[in-house]
Amino acid sequence: MSELTLSPAASTGSATTAAPNVGLPLWLLAEVTYRCPLQCPYCSNPVDFARQGNELSTQDWIRVMTEARAMGAAQIGFSGGEPLVRQDLAELIGEARKLGYYTNLITSGIGLTEQKIADFQRAGLDHIQISFQSSDEQVNNMLAGSSKAFAQKLAMARAVKAHGYPMVLNFVTHRYNIDDIDRIIELCIALEADFVELATCQFYGWAKLNRAQLLPTREQLERAERITNEYRAKLEASGNPCKLIFVTPDYYEERPKACMGGWGAIFLTVTPDGTALPCHGARQLPIQFPNVRDHDLRHIWYDSFGFNRFRGDAWMPEPCRSCDEKEKDFGGCRCQAFMLTGDAANADPVCGKSPEHRIIVQARSEAAQPVPTTQPLIFRNDRNSRTLGNP
Ligand code: FES
Repeated sequence: MSELTLSPAASTGSATTAAPNVGLPLWLLAEVTYRCPLQCPYCSNPVDFARQGNELSTQDWIRVMTEARAMGAAQIGFSGGEPLVRQDLAELIGEARKLGYYTNLITSGIGLTEQKIADFQRAGLDHIQISFQSSDEQVNNMLAGSSKAFAQKLAMARAVKAHGYPMVLNFVTHRYNIDDIDRIIELCIALEADFVELATCQFYGWAKLNRAQLLPTREQLERAERITNEYRAKLEASGNPCKLIFVTPDYYEERPKACMGGWGAIFLTVTPDGTALPCHGARQLPIQFPNVRDHDLRHIWYDSFGFNRFRGDAWMPEPCRSCDEKEKDFGGCRCQAFMLTGDAANADPVCGKSPEHRIIVQARSEAAQPVPTTQPLIFRNDRNSRTLGNP
């Protein structure tokens, strides 16, 4: 998922009542569809997305947004898949704005038009983030699986800016584009971007399937960070307000991230078919998560097994249980622990204290080898999802 920030301006609003020791679902991620015209091989959607149930209706989403807002949700992100394929997106944005949300659209830009930008603006949309695959047209279009993607993204980035929105661009970086970081930043400067997220690929969903081809080497990563810092200094010296946000990948850390700010602490994701999750990656866990078609959000957030499963620290085994950093990182990412060790309750293997940390060390040393040419990228599309997703 893209990096998103809470807006203090949106943190006031409806009265809330909270259960003791449980935070408020301040951030609602509305994954309104898994449909997408692109095929990025690092998509964080579940590999079996094509097997999921029917999408929620407009009325279902309005109910979800209303319930979440009453519980304290202040920001909403419309995401996917590609949210623009939903014909009711302007209506959903308008309803969210009326409810008092700070509204974000997280899009590839494919399907966006000047007319839609104007419609969304009228509906009260606060923020648009457009993702690119590369600064190089050929690489961009190869990764996106569309020969027209790059030109459309450029046009829509300019249109978003022309409508008075701050321009927020997102680049997921990996072996195919990280060595072009200077060209990526130059493109963003030429487009007069206000914020640029340079997010090194995290290995969930489709990215995990393609890790061998995508994970950069330590040297590539260090070079990219150094160049980003040089650009930051140049931008500041020249008074350019463009902000570069560099997100390092877990695989080169020795301590895990405090994923989602803690399980069931701030984030609430609702997937296209109404399954409610504490994070966008949790669908793969062997946990039955509740569905908004069956329960209201108050029950889901406060009472459901899935949302309570990793709250607090009573669930932690060693080494997390006795670790003096457990309140800082909560044992890391539950989804990553599950993907890499088979048990979501284990310490995230990114942690140097984890008995499974060798998995990360091994991945790093594999990344130091040439990219395996015998293993083609697996693109995120319906056909692959039906073939590879668990039945
Ligand atoms: Fe699910 Fe980290 S992505 S807990």
